Amino acid sequence: MLKAKLGEYELDGVFTNGSGANDDSLDKLLQIADSRAGFITTKTTTFLPRPGNPGPRFYILGNNAINAMGLPNPGYKEMARIVSELKTRTKKPVFVSMSGFNLEESGELAKTLSPAADVLEVNLSCPNLMGKSQIIYNPEQTEAVLKEIKKNTNKKIAVKAAPFLDPGMQNEFCEIAKKVGVDFIVAINTVGNCMYIDADREKIMLKPKWGGLGGEALKMIGWGNVRRYYEFFKGSVPIIGCGGIVSGKDAFAYALAGANAFASATTLYKEGVGCFGRMEDELEAELKKHNYASLADAVGKAKEF
Ligand code: SIN
Repeated sequence: MLKAKLGEYELDGVFTNGSGANDDSLDKLLQIADSRAGFITTKTTTFLPRPGNPGPRFYILGNNAINAMGLPNPGYKEMARIVSELKTRTKKPVFVSMSGFNLEESGELAKTLSPAADVLEVNLSCPNLMGKSQIIYNPEQTEAVLKEIKKNTNKKIAVKAAPFLDPGMQNEFCEIAKKVGVDFIVAINTVGNCMYIDADREKIMLKPKWGGLGGEALKMIGWGNVRRYYEFFKGSVPIIGCGGIVSGKDAFAYALAGANAFASATTLYKEGVGCFGRMEDELEAELKKHNYASLADAVGKAKEF
């Protein structure tokens, strides 16, 4: 078993589920708890229960996936109940993912979810909410939401970040995260505004038309974004690398970029919770092959030309 230090947490196992993958009920969260995942992340919860967008809304395509789920979830009160129960059944840290649709909701969610949560993961990056922009791309909104959440919690906060395709925008987010006191960054969420067209059927395959692309295609965006966080925060903010991790070698590359632990969604969908143990074993073999005594020793060690 590979160990990692993630902020104050000593993890037995270095993977978690990327929020949204088989994690919206107690049963599914318990399956993750009973696997070799070192920590657990919930489906993003909102103020009201949501059925999500109409389907079809999810496809696995090889090692990639496209989804337009739209945050289906049982609502924050039920999620608070689920997480309290989960915490009686596992010692693993639980990141509770949340998304308020205004400041009042964000504050209320933070207050109610905090007692059971180890960490509040603030999802500022869902690309599938019809008529709503991804908050993280708006610096003023991002700062206001994070300040409101900090006012209403005594727990650590993580931000689930969208992919930044522009370094200046990523830097602006980093300045806000530093000012507000973000404790963890989970990078990256899916790439939004994507579309799956079946040319044979001449058809847009998602009912909501656009969705977020996840899986292997994201790896290089993920590595690039993680490296920028690592260089900005100089290791002071732990990073959970997410986006296209299919193997332990992918996770090793994330570690070299600067990630301290890893999340996987598409691979979890494809393979089930056994993926955590397989990828961890592969990662351990990579660390040995490259003469690193621990995962921590490899973090940020990607050499430059
Ligand atoms: C969704 O429910 O739309 C996917 C989760 C996310 O992108 O944050």
